Amino acid sequence: MIVADGGVLDPQGPIAGSMADLWWLMLVLGVIVFLVFLALLAWSLIRRAPASSEEEPRHERLVSRWIGVGGVAMPTVIIIVVFVATLAAMRVMPDTAPAGALEIEVTGHQFWYEVRYPGSGLVTANELHLPTGRPIALELRSTDVIHSFWVPALGGKLDMLPERTNTLVLQADEPGEHRSRCAEFCGLQHANMALVVVAEPPDEFERWLDQQLAFSEPEGELAERGREVFVAADCASCHAPRGQAASGAEAPDLTTLPSRQLLAAATVPNDRETLADWIRDPQAIKPGVEMPATELSDADLEALLAYLGFDR
Ligand code: CUA
Repeated sequence: MIVADGGVLDPQGPIAGSMADLWWLMLVLGVIVFLVFLALLAWSLIRRAPASSEEEPRHERLVSRWIGVGGVAMPTVIIIVVFVATLAAMRVMPDTAPAGALEIEVTGHQFWYEVRYPGSGLVTANELHLPTGRPIALELRSTDVIHSFWVPALGGKLDMLPERTNTLVLQADEPGEHRSRCAEFCGLQHANMALVVVAEPPDEFERWLDQQLAFSEPEGELAERGREVFVAADCASCHAPRGQAASGAEAPDLTTLPSRQLLAAATVPNDRETLADWIRDPQAIKPGVEMPATELSDADLEALLAYLGFDR
């Protein structure tokens, strides 16, 4: 299942809601202006030309009146209305973390998202859980090029920059799943740089957080061998285990991988078969991704999958 939602026209929180209201206002005004323009155009096409020279001055007065009303007065009024509405919408959007906001750090990489919850120390990737009914302050960064963070149903769009932190505040009022898309061209797999966003009631969110923190390395002989494969195949040089990854890890933290819905930055389903294909040849699934192909025997792959929590 690839998550989909109603996007910007189906806002699920107050900030996205004020942006959608502004959009509708601009659409309605634009449609009215267009219809008036069409009516005037039609009228001018069917209207007869002035029959005599006596009618000429009256005709010229009419023309200058139309230019005054349609070309100066009407645009001025509309621009003022849109400007005031834009200022009102901007007041709803804080650009620093408001009191009581939950802070979450989201770092863009080519082509995935690192997600950190500083309050609890949880580090995960490509899936963002947030509690409903509370402002969320996302501290956005990038480790390489410029990406742009955007969850259309929840709020605005903001660049993820390598050299500074941008704070994006959003809020979900209703539980639901959304898809965030990278909104700045960042390389070959820009289109497949997505993020599953799960908004859930606060108690469910706390439960999710506890579950994530409780994840431990799978035990057993097979998993133990899988851990050796993980190190021998050099996976460990990019995918640091939890707690050891410094900010700016090269590849997603895999500790809670089995709990995620989608794999490869929300590109393909996260199941055992797809993960096996992904490990063997990620370029076939996502050409241009940083992860190299890994040649493994069937037995080694089996053990590695067990170590990653994908036991048969
Ligand atoms: Cu990251 Cu486009």
